[in-house]
Amino acid sequence: MAIQIKTLDQLQTMRKAGLLVRNTLELVRANIKAGITTSALDAIADANIKRGGGTSNFKGYHGYPATICVSVNDEIVHGIPGERMIMPGDIVSVDCGAVIDGWHGDAAFSMIVDPVDEKRQMMLDVCEESMWVGIAAGKVGAKLSDIGHAIEKYTNEQGKYGILREYGGHGIGTAMHMEPHIFNYGKPGHGPTIEVGMVFAIEPMITMGSEKTKVLADNWTVVTVDKSHGSHFENTYCIAPDGKPFVLTALDGGKSELARFGVEVSTLLS
Ligand code: MF3
Ligand code: CO
Repeated sequence: MAIQIKTLDQLQTMRKAGLLVRNTLELVRANIKAGITTSALDAIADANIKRGGGTSNFKGYHGYPATICVSVNDEIVHGIPGERMIMPGDIVSVDCGAVIDGWHGDAAFSMIVDPVDEKRQMMLDVCEESMWVGIAAGKVGAKLSDIGHAIEKYTNEQGKYGILREYGGHGIGTAMHMEPHIFNYGKPGHGPTIEVGMVFAIEPMITMGSEKTKVLADNWTVVTVDKSHGSHFENTYCIAPDGKPFVLTALDGGKSELARFGVEVSTLLS
C-alpha cells in the first residue's frame, strides 16, 4: 500500500526516460497529417525509442501489441495502431511510454488535424490546461485527492464536458502503473499526503458529451458510448528533493506552464 519514493539519482534516470517520451511524442506530432496510417506513426515512435536507448513499456503490457496508443475522435484512449488513415479534421490522441535503465516515463497529447474547428479545439485546450491545474494542485504537503478535485473543478468551470470515470492517473517508477490511482474528479483533502520523491502521471480524459465509455471488441480501444469526441493529455511529474515539482516529460520541466500558477519548478533535475 506504499507509494514508491525515489532518490535524486533515480529521478535523474526517470528524467532521461521522460525526455525520450517527449521527444518521441514531438516526432510523432510532426508526422501527423491526413493520409498517414496510425501504424506508420507507431513505427516512427518505435524507431525513436530504440534510437534513444530505451524500450517501450506499452508493448507487451497485458498483451498490448504496439509502442503507442493512437485514439481518433470518439476513441478516447488505448486505440491500437493499424491501417486506419488519419483524415482531415480528426482529433488524434497519442500516448507513449518508455523505459531507461528500469525507470519509466509516460505522456500523451491530443491535436486536431486541419481543418481545426473552434469548439473541439476548446475542448482539447480545457483538457490540457486541466492537466496543468492538476499538477499545480499536486504540490508537496497536499493530499492526493486535491489533484482530481482541481481537475474536475477547472473542467466544469469551462463548460459542459464529460470527465471519464473509469480511467485516471497513476504512480509510476519501476513500473508504468503503480500505486496510487489518481482520479480526475472528487472531493479535496483525502488520501495520502504528497511527499518528496513521489512521481505521478496525471492524465485527464474528457469528451464533448457523456463520460460513458465502452471497450471495443479488440479489448483495448476505449470509445464514448454517445460517439462524442474527446481528448487526453498526460505528463509524468515528480516532487524533487527540494520540495518543488518537476515535470519529467516536459522539455522545460514544466517551468513555463506552471509559472501561471505561481509554481516554481525544481532546478535539481535540469
Ligand atoms: N500510457 C497509458 C496510461 O496512460 C497506458 C497505456 S496501456 C498500454 O496509463 F497497454 F497501451 F500500454
Ligand atoms: Co499513464
